[in-house]
Amino acid sequence: MELKVKDFDDYQKTYDDSVKNPEEFWEGIAETFFWKKKWTNVLSWDFDKPDIKWFENGKVNISENCLDRHIYNNGDKPAIIWEPNDPSEAARILSYKQLLEKVEQFANVLKNNGVRKGDRVCIYLPMVPELPIAILACARIGAIHSVVFGGFSAQSISDRINDAQCSLVITADGGFRGSKVIELKSIVDDALVTCDSVEKVIVLTRARIGVSMIKGRDVWWEDEIHKVESQGNPVCPAEEMDAEDTLFILYTSGSTGKPKGVVHTTGGYMVYTGYTFSNVFQYNPEEIFFCTADIGWITGHSYIVYGPLSQGATSVMFEGVPTWPDAGRMWDIVEKHKVNILYTAPTAIRSLMAAGDEYVDGKDLSSITKLGSVGEPINEEAWNWYNEKVGKGKAPIVDTWWQTENGGILISPIAGVTPTKPGYAMLPLPGVQPVLVDEKGKVLEGNGVSGNLCIKFPWPGMLRTTWGDHERCRQTYFSTYKGMYFTGDGCLRDEDGHYRITGRVDDVLNVSGHRIGTAELENAINMHSDVVESAIVGYPHPVKGQGIYAFVILDNVHHDEDLTRKDINATVSRIIGAIAKPDIIQFVPDLPKTRSGKIMRRILRKIVEGDLGSIGDVSTLLDPSIVEEIKDGAAKMK
Ligand code: WT7
Repeated sequence: MELKVKDFDDYQKTYDDSVKNPEEFWEGIAETFFWKKKWTNVLSWDFDKPDIKWFENGKVNISENCLDRHIYNNGDKPAIIWEPNDPSEAARILSYKQLLEKVEQFANVLKNNGVRKGDRVCIYLPMVPELPIAILACARIGAIHSVVFGGFSAQSISDRINDAQCSLVITADGGFRGSKVIELKSIVDDALVTCDSVEKVIVLTRARIGVSMIKGRDVWWEDEIHKVESQGNPVCPAEEMDAEDTLFILYTSGSTGKPKGVVHTTGGYMVYTGYTFSNVFQYNPEEIFFCTADIGWITGHSYIVYGPLSQGATSVMFEGVPTWPDAGRMWDIVEKHKVNILYTAPTAIRSLMAAGDEYVDGKDLSSITKLGSVGEPINEEAWNWYNEKVGKGKAPIVDTWWQTENGGILISPIAGVTPTKPGYAMLPLPGVQPVLVDEKGKVLEGNGVSGNLCIKFPWPGMLRTTWGDHERCRQTYFSTYKGMYFTGDGCLRDEDGHYRITGRVDDVLNVSGHRIGTAELENAINMHSDVVESAIVGYPHPVKGQGIYAFVILDNVHHDEDLTRKDINATVSRIIGAIAKPDIIQFVPDLPKTRSGKIMRRILRKIVEGDLGSIGDVSTLLDPSIVEEIKDGAAKMK
């Protein structure tokens, strides 16, 4: 079956078929992959439990689909083009053949270090080729990877390691990001003080900084590779995995509690990421695809590693940041590697736009034919700039909406095939059945409606559970609206039936495309010894999309406010990571609360948005006068 739809008519026909006969549709897609043994049943599902199984009893290995199956025809084709942080360092290109070799070697390293099928492996690496190598090596032997983004703190790493009971950690001495060196091994050392499950740590040399190495626990990546070489076992057969065996865990924040481990399984995730990659970007075999995300997030898992590689594509990965050494870095990479498809986030576009057109004008971007956006709503100004300055008005922009839990893109234009409109994710992909519901759960039919976005039918890439706590998965995603997956997003379907995502309707912030849970952040702030209570809300931020605004009640002791702000930020960096630091901290004597003690975030949101006219009736609050006081304080903050 052809994965790419040809034109709009083909899209419509394919979409209709996929809804009428979803099992037949997905079976056709799945057959384009290599299975060790075919499934006996395409789909069984029950959203109430939830219990979702795709390609039941099918046997498969995703690393084999990403590597081995391309070797015969495309062994010398570049699989990964790696661009280093420092432009004066040489790029590295790994062909499919070379990548397979490295994955097999490292898979044997993992085995030598006691990793077995089903074991959990935590990966905390910079954006270097060894990161996808480690991921694919885990997949090859059936170990479950849990990648932790390099911006998270020691505390966050140890929470994740303990939750999944990882037995091994893969890290590096340090990593480069712009002008900074991040001391990854030292952060891991701090994390491991409270992690009893970890037996081994494999340390890659990248920054060549001094690190502590503990005998019996810590080993060097390079030494372990030499051992494997001297053992003379260059190959590592791909483990036979069940379609529903867990492939990986990826932690993500929600509106309550600690981050949860989203679980993706092997067969469905493989089929879904491969399919959406090919179709949405209309990938042609010679094209160079560059996704600027970090592999620590789902976008990198699905569209740097698994999606492109399962389709035999050439995937560019970049170690650094788009603004270093200057704001032209991304355009230099496009020019240097002749990138055809660029997939990035609105926050990056806005920051490069703000830096000035002189960084993009004059760069040769003529290779670009298609553009993508992901992670947050894109404002019209940024969309237009991206279209004109980067795409020169000739490259369709696919505004792809999806979530960590979804595995891959759900609602998006198909490049050059379906229409685009600034700020709109447009239409559901074949196989995806979105519905809008009102607060009471009534399905809103027809066009020109807005409500909460749900998906009423399973797709292969959806999460199956949350690690170690299935009930939490049911509660979070399947209990708000009966028989449907609830996304947490608000959405408009306009008169033409086009979808526009309007943002989260729960207490989750989206800061520079990163998901921040307000409850998690409040807990971190409340751990500061001088803090009595706090409340977090998002506010519109010109570059980050949303900024973090913290209202904080301090104890009665006299404080140096600026110093206390620094202390609070340092506390947040320790507990969660620097990405969660508030942009604004306003000290308040109290918070607006109902008589039952519930914080009225709605009022705080109105205050930070400057929407003072629509705060509404405050007379039922425990102390209505506090609203005036907070308003006055807020006016002085900006
Ligand atoms: C949340 C998911 C998708 C991978 C990266 C983020 C928001 C995502 C869009 C978009 C408007 C978007 C949603 C969603 N979001 N893409 N194209 N337009 N909003 O994954 O960290 O799981 O965050 O990001 O609010 O729920 P994530």
